[in-house]
Amino acid sequence: MATDFENVQKSLNLLLKEPQLPLQKICDLLFNAIPHYNWVGFYFMEDDAQMLQLGPYAGAATDHTRIPFGRGICGQVAVSGVAFVVPDVWAEDNYLACSLETKAEIVLPIFKEGKLIAQLDIDSHYANPFTDKDRAFLENLCTDLGPRL
Ligand code: SME
Repeated sequence: MATDFENVQKSLNLLLKEPQLPLQKICDLLFNAIPHYNWVGFYFMEDDAQMLQLGPYAGAATDHTRIPFGRGICGQVAVSGVAFVVPDVWAEDNYLACSLETKAEIVLPIFKEGKLIAQLDIDSHYANPFTDKDRAFLENLCTDLGPRL
């Protein structure tokens, strides 16, 4: 899938210059600009409750507004702190389905001062759509966002 990451990055850079980090606009931009990003959202870590809490998102409403650490792909990233690329969600035992259309998912940790505080979660309706370029682009975004959250 040929994504014009450079162009999207330019739009992102403008959003990142806003004094208040516009997380909703960032979700909307990724969702609208990249055809294989079919749900884009942020989850925030609640360490005391051992839960993830859904924040801004773009795409269909989800039942999974709160996810226990360890449950599903996001819950596993809450425990591991390591990005998780899932080319085929239906091949995963520990997966929480949001939509029957979803075929793949990527979840990236977001760190602030070395602490895992949030995640960027993207679902795709396409099989195995996430390339190394997606991963590098999204990791870079998470690195930019972390210190400002
Ligand atoms: N599929 C995720 C749940 C969140 S939705 O994708 C929005 C998971 O398994 O953690």
